[in-house]
Amino acid sequence: MKKALIAFGTRYGATANTAQVISETLRQQGVDVNVVDLKHEKIKDITQYDLVVVGSGIQINRWTGEPEDFLKKHQKTLGVKNLALYVCCGSATTGKQEDFDDAKRKYLQEKAVKYQLQPVALGLFGGVYNYNKEPWWAKKALEADRPRVEATYKAIEPGIYDTRDLAAIKNWAAELTKF
Ligand SMILES: Cc1cc2nc3c(=O)[nH]c(=O)nc-3n(C[C@H](O)[C@H](O)[C@H](O)COP(=O)(O)O)c2cc1C
Repeated sequence: MKKALIAFGTRYGATANTAQVISETLRQQGVDVNVVDLKHEKIKDITQYDLVVVGSGIQINRWTGEPEDFLKKHQKTLGVKNLALYVCCGSATTGKQEDFDDAKRKYLQEKAVKYQLQPVALGLFGGVYNYNKEPWWAKKALEADRPRVEATYKAIEPGIYDTRDLAAIKNWAAELTKF
């Protein structure tokens, strides 16, 4: 049986839930999957895995610290593994192709280059907006974009909007076992 590790970092939860969605798809294909929130668990050794999926949320153009540290720490081994990277971010779902392309370059392609990695797949997925818990320093920008989000997406709970396309995430995950 193939073994996969999904290691992620999240601030608001979208990347964690996305890891679960990816893991369900992989398990349905008979893969033995270990899902790890890197904030709560450190990974020492990745040699046992056939596939490593690393995910991060984006805040002010930056990855979460833990998955970035993970790429740095395991750079050498990841270079010889089937590696997939994904991010959950707002830029994926603005509706503008240039935002999507720009985010893919900044958040995924440039990250791979930074650590000399050659991922077999890059996933750019939407994020979750929780308007009940806006950081004070980001309130102005988030509120400016709020009418667009509210007009485009249905709230999953009052004040919380999930802009992800779960079917697209499942399709992306289903392709990962082909490598
Ligand atoms: C304070 C704040 C800053 C954000 N900055 C960005 C950003 O620079 N680029 C982007 O594409 N999305 C941005 N977003 C959207 C997040 O990427 C989205 O909420 C995503 O769900 C974050 O992942 P997480 O839920 O796993 O933490 C921001 C969201 C918040 C709340």
